[in-house]
Amino acid sequence: MSGMTVYKRRRDELIKKLGRSVAIVKGAPEQTRSHDTEYPYRQDSDFFYLTGYTEPGAACIIDPNNQDHPFQMFVLPQDPKKEVWTGWRLSFEETEKKFGCDRAADIAEFENSALESLKKATKVYTNLNHNKDHHHTVLEWLQQVRKEVQRSGGGPEGIESLGAITHEMRLIKDAHEVELMEKAAQISADAHIRAMQASKPGIFEYQLQAVLEHHFVYEGGAGPAYTSIVGAGDNATVLHYVKNADEVKDGDMILIDAAAEYQMYAADITRTFPANGTFTKAQRELYDVVLKAQKAVIEAAKPGVPYKTLHELDLKLLVEGMLEIGLLEGSYDEIIEEKKYQDYFMHNTGHWLGLDVHDMGKYMVDGESRSLEPGMVFTVEPGIYVNSRSDAPERFRGIGVRIEDNILITEEGNRNLTDGVPKEVDEIEALMGRK
Ligand code: GLY
Ligand code: MN
Ligand code: MN
Repeated sequence: MSGMTVYKRRRDELIKKLGRSVAIVKGAPEQTRSHDTEYPYRQDSDFFYLTGYTEPGAACIIDPNNQDHPFQMFVLPQDPKKEVWTGWRLSFEETEKKFGCDRAADIAEFENSALESLKKATKVYTNLNHNKDHHHTVLEWLQQVRKEVQRSGGGPEGIESLGAITHEMRLIKDAHEVELMEKAAQISADAHIRAMQASKPGIFEYQLQAVLEHHFVYEGGAGPAYTSIVGAGDNATVLHYVKNADEVKDGDMILIDAAAEYQMYAADITRTFPANGTFTKAQRELYDVVLKAQKAVIEAAKPGVPYKTLHELDLKLLVEGMLEIGLLEGSYDEIIEEKKYQDYFMHNTGHWLGLDVHDMGKYMVDGESRSLEPGMVFTVEPGIYVNSRSDAPERFRGIGVRIEDNILITEEGNRNLTDGVPKEVDEIEALMGRK
């Protein structure tokens, strides 16, 4: 399935779930970067998921009570003077055809059409995400309509989050989404290989960032799916190190957490490797603990497994490993109970991945960890971070290691979408030309 069919199938599913309620959905606003220049525009993920529409200034109404126009889109009208600056806009007829809507109209008509739809709806669903203004506007419309139709007993009872429906749908990727995520993963994996090959003492972190991001865009990606992290030495121990400003030193380990967004879908890859291409003994000891845990967690990921058991397994193996190499001391039980491992491992083992890098969808359902199902995609990303100020054994100080892959659950088990980039010690050393 491809093209507009996927969006129609999603809207049909949404319409079934709406019953007699209406969804009033707004596209993402443009964001100012400085003075009168904007950040590159990126559509709201839910809006995109339902429409496939990537231009700014749009909204849509999905209304099961509207027999003639269950799917209406509201877009910026054609305006030759503005189009000279920002590019051609489709006519309403072209929009209807291209996006399969029953009616396309000027965004200026959005309010009146929304008010009409609200009169017949039992509830209204809006995308809450980052667009607070839209939520307030819909609340005002709802109050207005309730006053108008009070005597006939109508008007929606309240506002619900559209995400309650769409985020559950987004959790299970369809074939079209898997294809795009495979492409995002492949571009990102190739970029990591190039960055490893370019690494050497004396290079700057931002130069490696440039190698990665050049490849993302060169291969047709929108750019990085999130701010690239390139940290050498102690910088690798800072979880969200995004300055990428320092020179790489001989003997450093380099941690790169960077990936492309491709046609709105994110990959999310981390690799850690020695700047000079050869692991020291201490680097390898730490690395092997993380690698062993990461591989075991991936091995354990299959349908029916509760998601939280992956983190539990990861934690167990990391703590056992840290005890073995002498990074942690004491009893296993005490380290777990008192969370002493948090000195070196302080984040979760992974997260859902899709249109958003930290993708939507609940991790718990009715108080229970949700079970893995075919079509789910998530990251597996254990790490150990020993910063230079730590009182850990000296040989481990200033080393941060994370290894992160993107895993698709299949009927049989799982598929690693990012296995195109090496993570075995021998493979990394060979790739960097030191073996
Ligand atoms: N790159 C963001 C994360 O790993 O969660
Ligand atoms: Mn991640
Ligand atoms: Mn990451």
